[in-house]
Amino acid sequence: MKIRYITALATLAVLALAACHDSDNTPTVQYPENAAIWTALGGDAGAPVGVKTIIGDAVTGLVSDPVTAPYFAAVTSNTSNSSMAHDTVARLEACLNLQFDALLGGPYTYPGPVTVSSDVDSQPEMCQDMTEAHNDVGVPGCVFDEFMVDLVATLQKDLPAADFAALTSTTNGTYELTAPNAAGIPVGTKFQYSTVPILFNLRGTITSATPSGPVYLPPTVAASCAS
Ligand code: HEM
Repeated sequence: MKIRYITALATLAVLALAACHDSDNTPTVQYPENAAIWTALGGDAGAPVGVKTIIGDAVTGLVSDPVTAPYFAAVTSNTSNSSMAHDTVARLEACLNLQFDALLGGPYTYPGPVTVSSDVDSQPEMCQDMTEAHNDVGVPGCVFDEFMVDLVATLQKDLPAADFAALTSTTNGTYELTAPNAAGIPVGTKFQYSTVPILFNLRGTITSATPSGPVYLPPTVAASCAS
């Protein structure tokens, strides 16, 4: 749950819009090391369409996986068309689209502003960083691990095999995966592109974002959950 102050957000959004462009107004590429992935996905014209499909499928998978779904109940039950207290599904998808457009090497920056046309809140809305976005979700380690297994499965299903192979390539890898995981990737593995390790390495940030600690929602129980 997030208290959002409209005026501050509007000011922030204007500032963020200014920040996403460099001095000659060229959009900033936050992860230039992944530019080849963006090109392979279709570049500025085609890649956002592919990312939208991936995010749509990933969210559908997460809200139907019995382990992760309970943590999204405040979002899926939010029929207010306002993301003031909890995200609407449309806001969640809009922010995930911006984040993955940036992570996959596009001319985007996360956090940043998004327009959520179905929300009644003042537009654009400002997406939050990973600590603030998850500060009341209480994500336990094992649930984060399940989320990542689901996400990788969606990427493998939706991406052409060559693009998935490139995204997960360890050839001349320099971007290190440092977080424990349930995807069978040894800690210390170095990837050619930074997208996958950046996502897995968010484990510590997201599982420690809630000050009161993890919340174990059935079927997840503390006893069998890696923290
Ligand atoms: C690398 C992993 C993850 C990434 C990249 C990610 C990314 C995001 C993004 C971009 C948002 C929207 C932020 C905003 O609206 O400003 C968000 C919100 C949210 N995420 Fe995650 N997330 C991750 C893991 C998880 C996990 C493991 C769970 C729970 C199983 C989760 C549950 C949620 C919920 C419930 C919200 C909405 C919070 C609210 O508005 O009340 N996320 N996440």
